[in-house]
Amino acid sequence: MKPDKGSNVSWWKSQNAEIAKQKAEERAYGVDDSEGLEYAEALERRRREANPKDSSDASSCASELAKQEKRMASKRAKPQPRGDVTRKRLIALLNEDLAREYQGIISYVVYSQVIKGAEYMSIGAELAVHATEELEHALTIAKQIDYLGGMPNVTPKPVKTSNKAQDMLRFDLDNENETIRNYRLRVRQCEAMGEYATAEQIREILIQEQDHQIALATALGIETPNVAGANAR
Ligand SMILES: [Fe+2]
Ligand SMILES: [Fe+2]
Repeated sequence: MKPDKGSNVSWWKSQNAEIAKQKAEERAYGVDDSEGLEYAEALERRRREANPKDSSDASSCASELAKQEKRMASKRAKPQPRGDVTRKRLIALLNEDLAREYQGIISYVVYSQVIKGAEYMSIGAELAVHATEELEHALTIAKQIDYLGGMPNVTPKPVKTSNKAQDMLRFDLDNENETIRNYRLRVRQCEAMGEYATAEQIREILIQEQDHQIALATALGIETPNVAGANAR
C-alpha cells in the first residue's frame, strides 16, 4: 500500500515531540545523550522499514535530525577537560612548589641568624618562625605528592646570598610573591581535577605565605605587593 504522506508527516511530528520531551528529561537528570541518539536512529530505522520507498519531507527531516543527533553525540563523547593539567603535570608542579619550600627553609634558617642591626632584631626572630613554617609546608606538599603517586624531589630552588639585611628581606619577599602566585594557581588546578583535599591543604599554606609576605613587606617599609596579576611583582 502506498504510504499516506500526510499521516506520515504527522506521525513523524508526534515522534519528534516525544524525542524532544525525552531529551529534556535526560538533560534534567544528566543522562548521557547518546541514548537519545540511539533512540532517534531506531526511530528512523522503524520509519524506513514501514515506508521503504518514502522520500517525503518526514524522511529528510528524520535524516537531518539523526545527523544532528550524531554530531551532538560525537561532541559530547569527547572527554571533558578536568582543568588545565594532568595528574602527572600536577605532581611535577607540586615538586616545583616543594623545591620553593626547601628554598624558603634554607633562606630563612640562614637569614634569621645572620641578619644584623637593632632595627632587624624583631624581623630576625620572625624569620626563624618562618623557617619552621616552611618546613611544615614542605612536609604537607611532599605528602600530597606521595598521595598522588609521585616521588617528592630533593632539590631546592637556588638561594641567593647577601650580607645586606635589605637584600635578604627583598630576596625572601620575591620568593614569597612567587610562591603565592603558584599556590593560588595550584588551588584552581587541584579543584579542576577534583583533588579538593589537596586544594584545601594548599589554601591553609597560602594563609601563612601571605602572612610571611606581609611581615617582609612591613620590615622593608613597603606596601604588600599585589600578586593577583600574572606579571605582578
Ligand atoms: Fe611555604
Ligand atoms: Fe613562606
